[in-house]
Formats: sequence, C-alpha cells, structure tokens
Amino acid sequence: MLRTLTILCSLATAFVASLCLLPAGSANSPAKTVTFSKDVAPIFHKNCTECHRAGEAAPFSTMTYKEVRPWAKSIKEKVVNREMPPWHADPHIGQWANDRRLNQTEIETIVSWVNAGAPEGNPKDLPPAPKFTDGWSIGKPDVVIPMPKEYQLKPGAPDEIQYFEVDPGFKEDVWVQLAEARPGNRRIVHHIIAFVKPPSPQANAPKMSPEQMKKMREHMEKNLIFYEDNSLTKVKADVPVYDDGCATPSGGGGVFRDGSGSDDGGSLLAGYAPGMNQANWPTGTVKKIPAGSKLIFQMHYSTFLGVTGEEKDLSSVGLILAKAPPTKELKTKGIANHYFKIPAGAENHTATACWTVREDMHFVTFMPHLHMRGSSMKFEAFYPDGRKEVLCNVPKYDFNWQIVYYAKNPIAIPKGTKILVTTTWDNSAKNKFNPDPKKDIRWGDPTYEEMTIGWIDYTVDGKPLKPAAASGSGSGENQ
Ligand code: HEC
Repeated sequence: MLRTLTILCSLATAFVASLCLLPAGSANSPAKTVTFSKDVAPIFHKNCTECHRAGEAAPFSTMTYKEVRPWAKSIKEKVVNREMPPWHADPHIGQWANDRRLNQTEIETIVSWVNAGAPEGNPKDLPPAPKFTDGWSIGKPDVVIPMPKEYQLKPGAPDEIQYFEVDPGFKEDVWVQLAEARPGNRRIVHHIIAFVKPPSPQANAPKMSPEQMKKMREHMEKNLIFYEDNSLTKVKADVPVYDDGCATPSGGGGVFRDGSGSDDGGSLLAGYAPGMNQANWPTGTVKKIPAGSKLIFQMHYSTFLGVTGEEKDLSSVGLILAKAPPTKELKTKGIANHYFKIPAGAENHTATACWTVREDMHFVTFMPHLHMRGSSMKFEAFYPDGRKEVLCNVPKYDFNWQIVYYAKNPIAIPKGTKILVTTTWDNSAKNKFNPDPKKDIRWGDPTYEEMTIGWIDYTVDGKPLKPAAASGSGSGENQ
C-alpha cells in the first residue's frame, strides 16, 4: 500500500495528487468517508458478483453489506496484491475485451473503505443490484447435451480428471453461435472443458487417404502409450526430445498426427472453470461442429471447497445455434509441442511450440493450457516483414484458473507469420502443486503429467461463409 502510494504520488497529475491526499486525511481535501453503499458496492457489482454470489464458485457473496463485512480484511489484501479479481495476463501486453482487473482508483477506494473500518453508509445510496438469470447465462439453449452418465465422487477422493464421450447425433454440420458448459454440482466441479472430436481427426482439415490414415495410426502407436480406456495418451519415454518446437520433424506438433504438423482436428467448444467466461465470440462468428462429431467432456472434480460426503454430478453443455447466416467460421488451433522433456527437479524448464500460418487470419482468443507444473506461457508473432510482437503473455500461469483472453479487437496475422509459444515449468519441490518432483516428465493427458498447448481461436480472412452452410432456422436436431 505505502509503496503504491509513493509511486502514485510521484506522478504529477492533479487527479492522482488528490488520491494521494485521501488516505492521509489531509485538511486540504474535504473529509470524505468511503462507504459500502455509495462507493464500494458499485465496484463489487461490476467486478466480483460474477463469481461471488450464491451458487457460484467463490466462497462468499459480495451482493450485500452483511455478507461482505466479515471478509473486509481479506478483500483488502487480495485486491492490493491483485489476486482478485483473477487475471493472469501481463497488463502491458494487448487489450482484452474480458479484462476484469480493478483500476488503481478502485483499489484505493476499497483500501480506504477497509482502513476506515468498512462502514456501511446509507443503504439509500446503494446502486440497484445486478440481475442474474438463474440457469443458463447464454439464454435458453437450442440444444442441451448432458454427460452420458452421472458421476459419483467418493468422500475423501483426491482431485481427479474424468473424460466422458457423448454422441450428440448431429447428422449435418451444426453452426454454434454461443456455447456454455454448466456444472451439475458446483461443490465438486472444478472445471469442465468440452471439446469437439470430429469423426476423423482431420475432418476440419484436408481429407486423408486410407494410406495416410494407416501411416498416422502407425506413427501414433510407435510414439504413444495409450491408457486402458484409450481416451488418455502419453508420449513414450524414448521418443526423441525436442524442447525447441520449431526443430521438431514436423516443425510443430506431430506425435499425434501423420507428421504434417497439423492438429486442428479437435476444437475447444465451451469451458467452465474458476476464472473462465462464457464464450462471447464476436457476433456472426460461429463455431462448426462437423456432422458425426462426438463431444468430449473433460471433467476436473475437486474437493477443494471442503466437500466431505459422497457427491454426484451430471454436467451439460448448452448450444445456441446460429440464427442469421454466419459470416465467419471460428477455428481452433492448439499450438503444441509433444516432444518436450522436463528433467526431474528442474525449477525453470523452457520449451517452445511453433506454428507458421498459411493464410491471412485474425486471432480472436488466447488460452494457455498447462498442468500443475506450468508456470508461464507467452505467445509471440514473427511477421513476414521481420517485425516481432508479443501477442499475449501470462507470466504467472496457475492451473487452478483457466482463463480465456478475448482480444478487444481481433489481431490481424498475415500469411507466413510464425507464432512461437514459449512455456516454462517448475518441476521442483518448491512448486507446491507438483505431484512428483522426482520424475522426468514428457507429454501426457492426465493432470499429473504435462502438456503445453497454446489454444487460439481464429477466423480466416476473405472467406465469408455461404449462407447455405448455416444450420439456419435453429430447428436443428437433438432439441
Ligand atoms: C472469476 C471469478 C471471480 C471473480 C471475478 C472474483 N473472485 Fe474472488 N474468488 C473466486 C474464487 C473461486 C475464490 C476461492 C478460491 C481462491 O481463493 O483461490 C475467490 C476467493 C476470494 C477471496 C478469498 C476468500 C478466502 O477464502 O480467504 C477474496 C477476499 C475474494 N475472492 C475477493 C474478491 C473481490 C473483492 C473480487 C472483485 C473485486 C473478486 N474476488 C472477484 C472467484 C472470483
């Protein structure tokens, strides 16, 4: 607090100068008591109630004075340290549509309020409480796809990741305008990530011939260990190591495919997690679910909210289909390097993943995905004209918060740009989340193994969709 004020006071604007006087209660500024009703409630309504209200993920509600008062001290600490609201991207890089950080004035207001004993003030000053729809926040879905069966979490169970595959029965391509993943039981669902698994790995990419398919299968069997149920995989320990993703045989991903470097096959549809917003793609920008696709629910169940008894969950995904002809298709790319190796105990191990774009496009979202050892991820563009730019930087990655960063204005990426994704991991005992610091780690799906995926949603320029391609009226199947 003191340090922040010193920095602030050294800035010579009249606005900031008046702020500097506030906490000191200077005689020059009229003594003004900051109250909950007048000054603080508007900030909580705008920046906290999204998660801090009954039935949501956060441990207390910020809706009323009575609910907030006991937390005042802890609130001051969390906002001053910028732990709340959760936001892990470097504020100096890029501009984000979903940026929910507090500005300095808001932080100072909260601090002054707590320092003054967190007074309520006059309830007549309260702004109207924000309204939340019970149920789906995207509105009534056209299609609801639940998990195939209820899941039971045993008392005292450790954190666990479960995968469920569902066939939504789509006979035609489906165009999705909005998607939401909704937990059945918020006491135990830490996160949901719903992926689309197209009928063939390359349904969104050029078709593969039977020979290519065979080659791909052989390639995967040579390089991967398949877990019992076949839905989880892990890279074999003796697969050649490339921490430099641009130097891999395919110049990028590869182990899971035929070496073409493409893994556009699957697509991230919707997620629920502490810190994750509902998908808010720009209007007219839609996601395609190819006919015959399956939906994969990646469920992270956790007892971190102190659940002790037996709990059940049946989560679902809701879709609102495109009503107007979509103008742009949102595609997903997971920029990955499957060949890395993190030595046992390494505190700051770096690897890169690499993707050279083959068309003019616009990047819409960024989402770093690492597991418990992940500590940072940076997305950089190397443009064909020689310029270099950091697009998104998450210097302190935290697996517990899965945040999607929506660019305020989609970022133009010309054909030939190389995207470099740089990851660091902490595989030492100092990392309190590390499941096992004594192990060398290669790519693996379970949370106790590691991944590096820089997820990007993008649209391709100059290719408006034909209206005929839309699923149109919303009268789609599976209502
Ligand atoms: C995106 C969801 C989200 C937003 C927005 C958010 N919080 Fe939180 N907050 C959480 C969750 C989940 C937890 C519990 C997990 C944790 O502490 O890491 C939490 C924990 C806290 C705690 C610690 C409680 C404890 O157990 O000690 C405080 C204090 C807090 N939040 C204050 C705020 C304030 C103030 C705001 C707004 C300025 C805010 N949060 C915005 C989700 C959120």
